[in-house]
Amino acid sequence: MTQQPPSVPEAAELDELSRADVARLGSKLDDVEIVQLADRWPVKGTRAEKRAERGVAMWFTICGLSSLAAAGIFVFWPWEYHAPGSTDHWIYQLYTPLLGITMGLAVLALGIGTIAYVKKFMPAEISVQQRHDGPSDEVDRRTFSALVTEAGATSGLPRRKMIARAAGFGAGALGLGLGVVALGGFVKNPWAQDNNSALVTTGWKSISGEKVYLRRDTGDPKEVVLVRPEDLDAGAMETVFPYRHWEQGDEEALARALRRSDSPVMLIRLRPGTQVVQRKGQEGFNYGDFWAYSKVCSHLGCPTSLFEQQTNRILCPCHQSQFDATHYAKPIFGPATRALAQLPIDVDDEGFFYARHDFIEPIGPAYWERKS
Ligand code: FES
Repeated sequence: MTQQPPSVPEAAELDELSRADVARLGSKLDDVEIVQLADRWPVKGTRAEKRAERGVAMWFTICGLSSLAAAGIFVFWPWEYHAPGSTDHWIYQLYTPLLGITMGLAVLALGIGTIAYVKKFMPAEISVQQRHDGPSDEVDRRTFSALVTEAGATSGLPRRKMIARAAGFGAGALGLGLGVVALGGFVKNPWAQDNNSALVTTGWKSISGEKVYLRRDTGDPKEVVLVRPEDLDAGAMETVFPYRHWEQGDEEALARALRRSDSPVMLIRLRPGTQVVQRKGQEGFNYGDFWAYSKVCSHLGCPTSLFEQQTNRILCPCHQSQFDATHYAKPIFGPATRALAQLPIDVDDEGFFYARHDFIEPIGPAYWERKS
């Protein structure tokens, strides 16, 4: 025999019903048959119940403490780079792992606490529901919300003050931690120093008029080897980094110059007689057959480390963008749409390459205030 569906009450009639009645009505209207519904703690206030309560509260508390720790680390931990060998290097190295551990622990503890609460305090229920299509109407929405609230009430949450407080602390601290991390980047004005601001300068900028030389990375951060034109064969490419004479003997400054993400530059020697096209406003940035381009790809910032000397193409391995080294490193294939930034170079009286000045446009991918 087919079961008759219950009549659907008007919205005004719902107001007359208790929450438990509305929840039951919701089950019936949804064609839900409750096969089993049992209170997890039929005898209230037992030691086992209190133990379970403390266990859940402990996880929410761990969530809150970890979130506060993550926010504190994000704001106060010394994150600025210190070279290997310096006393502060290990402190700098801990910054990212500590942030990951504390945020990960906060999310994990919140998840475990929530699962533990559902398993230990929500009524053990087995229900069977027929599937329906289409959106929910007003009655469905109200009965569903009553079902959820009723489940919360049946689980005893209002009287489990310890869990409620710990959950509130955990969720609040996690929200605070996420908010600090999300908004922290806006605290510092990236344009505070106008044309000297970090977004528009690189390691190639001369700070007080000193020459910035092109340096080879030998694998030893303390060793300084400058580059001269005769060091490169025709068709060769070498990655170079900035060097200033005052950095000599300063191990940390030497290592930092090699590590700066905006420093790597490709120095390319085209074969003699190669036809080139210069970019408007960048005429004379080359030194004879030598051309220097930022290695930071204008697509998403990967290192464009490959130079194919037969075709004079620079290749980015990430998404296969190709740039024409004879045509001011203009993109000719792949997703990149901007040319690689070109570094103006020259050779000093002693025959060493140096940068005439910093790049004249931001390197790498676009950002919202970029003009070129
Ligand atoms: Fe170079 Fe995408 S980062 S092609």
